[in-house]
Amino acid sequence: MRRVARFLIPLIGGLALLAIVGYVLLTRTTSRWFEKDLELRGRLAVESARTSLATHWADRAQLPEILADITRDERIMAAAACGTDGTLVAATDAYPEQFTCASLQRRMADEAGSDGTAWSMTSELASGAVRVSATRLVREQRAIGTVVLVHDLSYLERREATTRNFLLVAFFILALGAAIVTLLAARFAWRGWTTELRQALAGNPTRDFRPLVRDVRTLVERLAGEREEGVRAGPWGPERLRNALNEHLQGERVVILANREPYIHEKTPDGIRVVHPASGLVTALEPVMRACSGVWVAHGSGTADRETVDAHDTVRVPPGEESYAVRRVWLSEAEESGYYYGFSNEGLWPLCHVAHTRPVFRAEDWAHYVRVNQRFADAVCEEVDSDDPVVLVQDYHFALAPKMIREKLPKATILTFWHIPWPNSERFGICPWREELLAGLLGSSIVGFHTQQHCNNFVDSVDAFMESRIDRETTAIVQGDRRTLVRPYPISIEWPVHWVAEAPSIEDCRASVRRELGLQPDALLGVGIDRLDYTKGIEERLSAVDQLLERYPEFRGRFTFAQLAAPSRTKIPHYRDLNERIEALAERINQKWAKGSYKPIALLRTHHEPATVFRYYRAAELCYVSSLHDGMNLVAKEFVAAHDDEQGVLVLSQFTGAARDLTEALIVNPYDFQQASDALAAALRMPADEQRIRMRSMRRLIAEFNVYRWAGRMVVDAAGLRRKERLFGGLRASRASFR
Ligand code: F6P
Repeated sequence: MRRVARFLIPLIGGLALLAIVGYVLLTRTTSRWFEKDLELRGRLAVESARTSLATHWADRAQLPEILADITRDERIMAAAACGTDGTLVAATDAYPEQFTCASLQRRMADEAGSDGTAWSMTSELASGAVRVSATRLVREQRAIGTVVLVHDLSYLERREATTRNFLLVAFFILALGAAIVTLLAARFAWRGWTTELRQALAGNPTRDFRPLVRDVRTLVERLAGEREEGVRAGPWGPERLRNALNEHLQGERVVILANREPYIHEKTPDGIRVVHPASGLVTALEPVMRACSGVWVAHGSGTADRETVDAHDTVRVPPGEESYAVRRVWLSEAEESGYYYGFSNEGLWPLCHVAHTRPVFRAEDWAHYVRVNQRFADAVCEEVDSDDPVVLVQDYHFALAPKMIREKLPKATILTFWHIPWPNSERFGICPWREELLAGLLGSSIVGFHTQQHCNNFVDSVDAFMESRIDRETTAIVQGDRRTLVRPYPISIEWPVHWVAEAPSIEDCRASVRRELGLQPDALLGVGIDRLDYTKGIEERLSAVDQLLERYPEFRGRFTFAQLAAPSRTKIPHYRDLNERIEALAERINQKWAKGSYKPIALLRTHHEPATVFRYYRAAELCYVSSLHDGMNLVAKEFVAAHDDEQGVLVLSQFTGAARDLTEALIVNPYDFQQASDALAAALRMPADEQRIRMRSMRRLIAEFNVYRWAGRMVVDAAGLRRKERLFGGLRASRASFR
C-alpha cells in the first residue's frame, strides 16, 4: 500500500500541476478572445447605427431610441451619446452614472490619442464586471461626438466558471484513468520483472536479465581478481599459499578427502616404518597440506596404521615436523575389494584411460563403492569445524562423496579434483551408473581437471546424460538453484622440491647409482619411474629401448635403462599379468643385447622411497615417460626439478597432460617405437648447451606453475565462489520481499 501511495502521489501531483497551468493559460486566452469579441460586436453595432446617429445627432429626440436599438444585443447593457464638449447628449435607462462623458473622453484622449477613433476599458460595477467602449462619430470629416457602450462581462465569468468546472472534471477523470492504467501496467511489469529477477538469481536469467547478471558476475570476478592481485607478491610458495588462505578464506582449515594417505605406517622386522606411497596425488597434495594444515581423510591401509592413531583415528604428520592431521578410515577386506580394487580400479580406471583394457562393472562392487563413499563423506563431515567448510575431494575413488557431503553441509565449498582423464561422452556412457556418478560430482562447487579437453568431455557427458542447463560462457552446470563450475587446473609439484635440497650432489648420485646397478662410471643411463600400471606404457618403453639398440649400435654396451616399478593394485589379475609380461620382455631384451656383465634393462620392481627416486633422476642422462594416457604425470616434472645442474633430457609421451606444458621435452608417440628410439638417441647425443636451454626453460615453467599456485588458484576460485554464493544467497533471501 505504501509502495502504491509512493507511486500515485507524485503522479497525481504532476497531473494537478499540469491542470493548473493549463487552466490559467486557457482562461487568459479565452477572456482575451471574449473581450475582443465584445469590442467587435460593439463596433459593429455602432457602425450599423452610424448613419442614423449622425442624421439625428443634432435634433437629439431620436437618439434615445437609436441607442435603445443598439442595446438590443443581449451583451450590451447600456449606451450613451456624448457631445464633443463632454456633455451627455442621450443615454439608455441602465447607463451607469459614474461613466461620465467628460471622464471617458479624457481617458480616451489620454490612452488612444486625440485622433483615436475607438477605445475601451474594463471596470467593476456592483452588479459585476463591465467593459466600456467608446467610438468616435465623424460626419463630413468632423467629430460630432462619442458613442459609449457598456458591455456586460458577467457572462464571461460564467463562461470561466464553466470552463474551470469542465477542466476539473476532465482532470479528475484523466488522473483516475492514468493512475488505473499505470497501476495495472506496473503490476504486470513488476510481476514479470520479479519473475525474471528470481530466475536470474536462480542462475537461469532470461534474455533481458542476462546482461545484468553478466555485469554483476564480471564485477564480482573483477573484484575477486583484484583481491587476488593484492596477495600476488612474488612466486607461489608455502608462505604465499598460507597468505592466500588467510586472505581469501579467512584461514579456514582445509579438509582433504583422498583415498591414498600421505604417510603409511608399515610393520617391519625392525619396527614400524613410515612409507611415502608412489602416488602423483600424494606428491602434489602433501606439500599443500604442509603449507595449509587441516585434516587429510584417507583409507588407513598400512599394517601399522591402527597402532599409530589416537582415539579419534588420527595421527599428526609429517613425522617429526607435525603440521597437519591424517584421519584414517578403516575398510573391511570386502569393502576394499569392492570399492577400491573393483569399481575404482577395474571399472573407472580403465573407463577413463584409453589404454585398451576393458572396464569391468559389477553390481556388488558398485554397492561397496556407494557405501564406502558414504562412510568417507560422513568422516569428512565429522572433521569440519563450521557449517560452510572448504572440502577438497580428490579423484575417481570419491565421485559420489561431493553430493553426500552437500546433503549434510549444504553451504560447504566442495572442490573436487579428478586426477585422471575424463573420457568422451560415448565412452563414459557405457558405465551402468553414469547418471549417479555425474550427480555425485555435481554436488561439488567446482570440478577440476588437468586439461580443458577433460573439462569439455565432462561437460559433454553431463549434457548427454543429465537434466541440467549448461552455461558455456562460464563453463558451469546449472541445476535448479545450484551451479557447479568446471575448470582446468593443471597440477604440478612443490618448488623447490625438498627431496632435491636433501639429495646428494649430482656427481655423488651418478656414482652411487652406477655402482648399485653394476655399471661403468661413464655408462649412459636412462630412467623410468612408475607404479606398475598398464597405462604407463612400460612395455612400449622397453620396446623403444630395444629399437634404440637395434637402430643405433653405438649405444650397445653403453646405454642402460633403469625401470623403477612400484608394485600396484596387485590383487587385480590384469596388473599381475602386466607384471609378468614386463618381466618377460625385459628378460628377452636383456638376453638379446647382453654382453659380459652388460644388460640394457635394469628392472627394479619394488617400492622406492622418494630419496632413492631423486637419486636416480639426478644420476640419469634421460628420463622416458611413455604413458599411453595420463592426466598429468608428475614424474616428468620431478625429473626436471631434480636436475639443478640443468643437464639431462626428458622424452615425453604426447598422451600425457604434462606434454602440454613441457614443450621443451622431446615429445613422442609411445606406440611409434621408431620415433621413440630416435628421440632416445637424440637425447643421448644432445649437446650440453642444448640440454641447458631446454632444461632451463622447463625448470622456469615448473617453478612458476608449481603446486602452490595450483592450490592457490583453487583457493582463489573457491573464495570467489563463496563470495558470490553469499551475495546471491543474500539476494535470494531478500527476494521474498519482491513478491
Ligand atoms: O593417477 C591416479 C592415481 O589415483 C593418482 O592419484 C595416484 O597417484 C595413483 O593413481 C595411485 O594409485 P593408487 O592409490 O591406487 O596406488
